[in-house]
Amino acid sequence: MKKLDQIRAAEDRLLLSTYDRNPILFVRGEGVYIIDEQGERYLDLLSGIGVNALGYGHPAIEEAIAKQSRALIHTSNLYYHEGQAELALLLTERTGLDRVFFANTGTEAWEGALKLARAHAGLLRSGGKQIGTKFLALEQSFHGRTYGSMSTTHKAKYREPFNPVVPGVEFVRFNDVADLRAKFSNEVCAILIEAIQGEGGVRPLTQEFLVEARALANSTGALLIADEIQCGMGRTGKWCAYQHYGVQPDVTTLAKPLAGGIPIGAVLCTEEAARAIHAGMHGTTFGGGPLACAVAIAVIDTIEKNNLLAHAAEVGSYFLAQLRALALRHSAIVDVRGKGLMVAAELDSADLAKLTVAEMLKQHILINCTSDTVLRFLPPYILERAHVDTAIAALDEILTNHAVAHTVGGQSRG
Ligand SMILES: Cc1ncc(COP(=O)(O)O)c(C=O)c1O
Repeated sequence: MKKLDQIRAAEDRLLLSTYDRNPILFVRGEGVYIIDEQGERYLDLLSGIGVNALGYGHPAIEEAIAKQSRALIHTSNLYYHEGQAELALLLTERTGLDRVFFANTGTEAWEGALKLARAHAGLLRSGGKQIGTKFLALEQSFHGRTYGSMSTTHKAKYREPFNPVVPGVEFVRFNDVADLRAKFSNEVCAILIEAIQGEGGVRPLTQEFLVEARALANSTGALLIADEIQCGMGRTGKWCAYQHYGVQPDVTTLAKPLAGGIPIGAVLCTEEAARAIHAGMHGTTFGGGPLACAVAIAVIDTIEKNNLLAHAAEVGSYFLAQLRALALRHSAIVDVRGKGLMVAAELDSADLAKLTVAEMLKQHILINCTSDTVLRFLPPYILERAHVDTAIAALDEILTNHAVAHTVGGQSRG
């Protein structure tokens, strides 16, 4: 029995069946390539769902892990270590926010942000202000799988099996300013956004919507909370996607690429919002441990030394331009969106999107499909134009073959 088959059989028996895995056993990686047990190389345009920002086997990450693991891996948050303040300074300088709480994952960071919003509203109420506890989240949002995150995530399939969800969440139609105005009141303690929705299909907010969200929050003291877990940390060519809009949130959350593959999350907030949190109100055993902090510092340092923000912006623009050119040749591509290396091509059918992901995999290129019809690319920031060309050629071939297979008597059906 092949090793992969043995592992599959064991997982089928032993794990909760939460994932529908592709039958590939990956054993190592190099740069933008991930390599299976047979030594087959795959061009990774998904980077572990937006995590492996520096690709695989990056020496800066390897050295940070090796050095820190020899010194100190874990202390708990009962004591000081060298990493948290250093990383917090790097993050506050880059996000324009003042204070940080370190967590371990995206969803844990988002839970912290939600708790901060409710605590902040409580503080305002204790000062005599009229402000409620309601969250306004957006349709097609995704914030994670724990209770608060799931309750502010729009798709019913993520929430309904686990009802009752956390109460006090209302969803606003995406980019609908009138709906936002209608649903906003002093009952709202926070407006929750992703400047570019990730799982929702790589959909950017309009300038008008984000400006209005900021103004409404200002009018009552509610917080504007930006989830940058997928679109942040340089992926779009700026440290935070909200920086493309010139709108500053009160709170933001980071995770995925922050430590290049070592789990970490962070909640960042203004001095004003931070007033709501005192010792003992919130915490975590592992969050901001020495190892994760050391690696995150190395990742930020590498992004800057290697000019990877500008590189992500440049290669990302090239990627978008190539996809737009492809869309001119394939009517199945109905939209091309994105910023930097957060890129999507929306197809006209969910079946075709699924088939395209499977065919790309056969050609040893990893992408995924989100929101049913959207091909999503979240490659490492070290991607080069030549890798984009490989992907575009593969997509061209797949879509051409599909169109030919669905042409009957010269009449295209797909
Ligand atoms: C925007 C956004 N927020 C939160 C999360 C949850 O992060 P994690 O899977 O690390 O809990 C994700 C994950 O995809 C995300 O894309």
